[in-house]
Amino acid sequence: MQIVKSTAELRQQVRQWRHQGLIVGFVPTMGNLHQGHLSLVEKAKQKADKVIVSIFVNPMQFAPGEDLESYPRTLDQDCQQLDQYQTDLVFCPPLEEIYPCALEDQTRVAVPNITQHHCGSSRPVFFGGITTVVTKLFNLVQPDLAVFGEKDFQQLQVIRKMVHDLCMPIEIIGGELVRESDGLAMSSRNGYLNIHQRSLAPKLRQVLLEAAEKIRTGDVEFDQISEHAKCKLEQLGFKPDYFNIARRNDLEPAGATDKELVILAAAALGQTRLIDNEQIFLQ
Ligand code: PAJ
Repeated sequence: MQIVKSTAELRQQVRQWRHQGLIVGFVPTMGNLHQGHLSLVEKAKQKADKVIVSIFVNPMQFAPGEDLESYPRTLDQDCQQLDQYQTDLVFCPPLEEIYPCALEDQTRVAVPNITQHHCGSSRPVFFGGITTVVTKLFNLVQPDLAVFGEKDFQQLQVIRKMVHDLCMPIEIIGGELVRESDGLAMSSRNGYLNIHQRSLAPKLRQVLLEAAEKIRTGDVEFDQISEHAKCKLEQLGFKPDYFNIARRNDLEPAGATDKELVILAAAALGQTRLIDNEQIFLQ
């Protein structure tokens, strides 16, 4: 497995693979890898001849006061795991390779509508930072396909929309959400939870499943379902941020006749913000 820090070296390798007619798959990450990330690598490996994983903690998607400094950085351990998963190349650039002018670039990629709700309304700089860095990474890696996890369902749909709207020749593939055995969605941020918070955390999933069950059995009072779920989360000790029932494709608020839905939820335990979601397909 190659470990590459410079964009020049990355480009050279990708050019060679493309020249050989090989299909290049890409999994962008911020590192501190767990089974959720590794499942995306496996998925990419099924569809591509060569798999590139990037590890880059992207400052542009963190607001002041968020956890940019404390975000876990475990590069050696990550590379060991990626090696075992037959990754061909790890791209782990220093900041100046991605932002040569120290974040002073003027160009931003924005996908306005789909980033307005859910995580976008509580974290206003977040998606602009993601779409801009993912565009940069796509331009550097030039993959045929890229895999994103359904854990960050809004991020996946934002990237799909961006790639479609900007005619990027990249197939976007969704990877299933991977959970701990008690149902908690795996996340690099779960490590911030203390023992008490960690024991409460899976309840977010349980509240999501209860709401999903109501919808599956015909309840269309979505506002009421959301309000009830938020109250429940508060009682359990969470600080709910949002609990929204949306249309699966464009993430606009769902109506009573929509058939493909997703419940998107975010709630904090102490300083740690957890997100989760549940997709619903009605007849
Ligand atoms: P990061 O949080 O490291 O996640 C990298 C990829 O792993 C994302 O596509 C995310 O959805 C996926 N992932 C995380 N936890 C998962 C889980 N439990 N099951 C399945 N997939 C999971 O998302 C980012 O980094 C960044 O925003 C990035 C796209 C790299 C841009 O900076």
